[in-house]
Amino acid sequence: MSRNTILITGASSGIGQATAQYFLEKGWNVAATMRSPDLTDHCETADLIYPRLDLTQPETIEAAVHQTVSRFGRIDVLVNNAGYALMGPLEGVSPSQLEHQFQTNLFGAVATIQAVLPILRRQRSGTIINVASIGGRLAFPLASSYHASKWAIEGLSEALRYELRRFNIQVKIIEPGGIRTNFIHRGTAWAKHPEYADLAEQVQQFSDRLNDSLPGPQGVARSIYQAATDRTPRLRYSPYGKSFLLLHSLLPDRIWRTLVSRLMLGAGY
Ligand SMILES: NC(=O)c1ccc[n+]([C@@H]2O[C@H](COP(=O)([O-])OP(=O)(O)OC[C@H]3O[C@@H](n4cnc5c(N)ncnc54)[C@H](OP(=O)(O)O)[C@@H]3O)[C@@H](O)[C@H]2O)c1
Repeated sequence: MSRNTILITGASSGIGQATAQYFLEKGWNVAATMRSPDLTDHCETADLIYPRLDLTQPETIEAAVHQTVSRFGRIDVLVNNAGYALMGPLEGVSPSQLEHQFQTNLFGAVATIQAVLPILRRQRSGTIINVASIGGRLAFPLASSYHASKWAIEGLSEALRYELRRFNIQVKIIEPGGIRTNFIHRGTAWAKHPEYADLAEQVQQFSDRLNDSLPGPQGVARSIYQAATDRTPRLRYSPYGKSFLLLHSLLPDRIWRTLVSRLMLGAGY
């Protein structure tokens, strides 16, 4: 039987890198795409390639998909993982910052899905896995742009699964809780506004304190594997996020809001 093939976006670090490693160990062919692959650091092998794919450059998406199919003959699973968080008060967000956030977290993912779909349709099988976040179902202070992009990918994914069922293509959403990767520091951009500088400072300090206590990305890679090999129509997988989602759905909004404010913005807020 031929080996399964997975194409992952944003495989240079964090969840994408751990996922590439995990699927390799499970015997898959892996296209570990990244926006600046350095082939002196990354050694390609019979079952591993590093196509260049930058979500803000549509021509690299087409080329990466083409390279993967030329090499492995098929694509069984697409993982739309690459992303970052634009933080900061909405009043300080410039149009170009917002556009870049959506280009990366949403429009680029859509372009990748569109590039892969003809292949999955021809095969009459495949799985599209979109990495959203618990932040696609609830929201924290000073992350409105990020949440908007992740809520969008949630809605898109839930609708898409109906369209693709006729082609035997599954759609899955991964909703991680907080994970220790480059995300909180290197993977975050900030919009600024002087009226909110104190809040930004509080959120930044909270994130710094939080980061070291978070689990690493391997558990998310396992969830992605579970989603990729699960033949049931289950849509959502929430590694390290279930308790947040449960609390959010059970607590009255007044209590949830107070908890989040105290935790992230300080006792007096
Ligand atoms: N870590 C968390 O707490 C957490 C929680 C929930 C959801 N998530 C989601 O998980 C996904 C992966 O994040 P992570 O935690 O693994 O963070 P990460 O270590 O910062 O990885 C993000 C990846 O996305 C890539 N990327 C960023 N912009 C890109 C672009 N324009 N084109 C192609 N690739 C691009 C980065 O590439 P470079 O190396 O070139 O920058 C990197 O490979 C993201 O979608 C994030 O929203 C993370």
